[in-house]
Amino acid sequence: MLLKEAREATEFLQNQTGSFVPDTGVVLGTGLGRLLDDIDIYHSISYEDIPHFPVSTVESHSGKLIFGVLNGHKLVVMQGRFHYYEGYTMQQVTFPVRVMKLLGIRRLFISNAAGGLSPDYNISDIMIINDHINLQPENPLTGPNEDEFGVRFPDMSDPYDRTMIDKGLEIAAKYSIRAHEGVYVAVPGPNLETRAEYKYLRTIGADAVGMSTVPENIVARHMGLPVFALSVITDLCTPEKIRKVTVEEVIKAAMGAEPGMKKIMEELISLQTD
Ligand code: HPA
Repeated sequence: MLLKEAREATEFLQNQTGSFVPDTGVVLGTGLGRLLDDIDIYHSISYEDIPHFPVSTVESHSGKLIFGVLNGHKLVVMQGRFHYYEGYTMQQVTFPVRVMKLLGIRRLFISNAAGGLSPDYNISDIMIINDHINLQPENPLTGPNEDEFGVRFPDMSDPYDRTMIDKGLEIAAKYSIRAHEGVYVAVPGPNLETRAEYKYLRTIGADAVGMSTVPENIVARHMGLPVFALSVITDLCTPEKIRKVTVEEVIKAAMGAEPGMKKIMEELISLQTD
């Protein structure tokens, strides 16, 4: 069922985009919209026009799948993602990643906004994700396994590609961008965490907390795609620094990190040779 629907969505997109076969998929989270500025856009297709794509909820901005070229690389970019807290199932949240793989991508880039749990982090810092802890209550692989996508029990010892993490850190150092590597913990949201929860999340080994990325990562790894993901730290969640945050502050902090994120993503995409 899932495979059939993903194939139908893929065929529709292939008919729309002709011979454009993307090599790289990008999930644009908060703060990375500007990446699109440097892309030569060939096709832009609204999610609502794509068969079987989740239908947007009222609150979420209308999403688009954008096909374009960046420094010789053919990209398919999700402008707008689906979150579990919006009421989508995990299969819906991750459906576009399945489709991007069927379209031909060989690697996936993800960005998000996250709360900083490590005492070393400041607002608008970047964290390159090197591992994750999944505290979301559902898993996108629940249900019959589609063997054509991947195995029943996918390995998760290498969830984020080490070579790309190292390259990402090198690029950050070259441009004096404040970037760390660390562990991302995914929670269901939509409420932010209590003080006791932040303390718990830090204790179990996380450096940043957010409400996305892990489902997309699991599905990408299920299909054998290497993943590079980064978080922009939009609020600080250590006991001394925690205070009330508003969505506006989160967006402002994300925008502060936008040039650095853009630089890392763009250079890293350009460096890929296969
Ligand atoms: N918690 C969870 N998700 C978030 C946060 C946070 O503090 N900040 C941005 N996304």
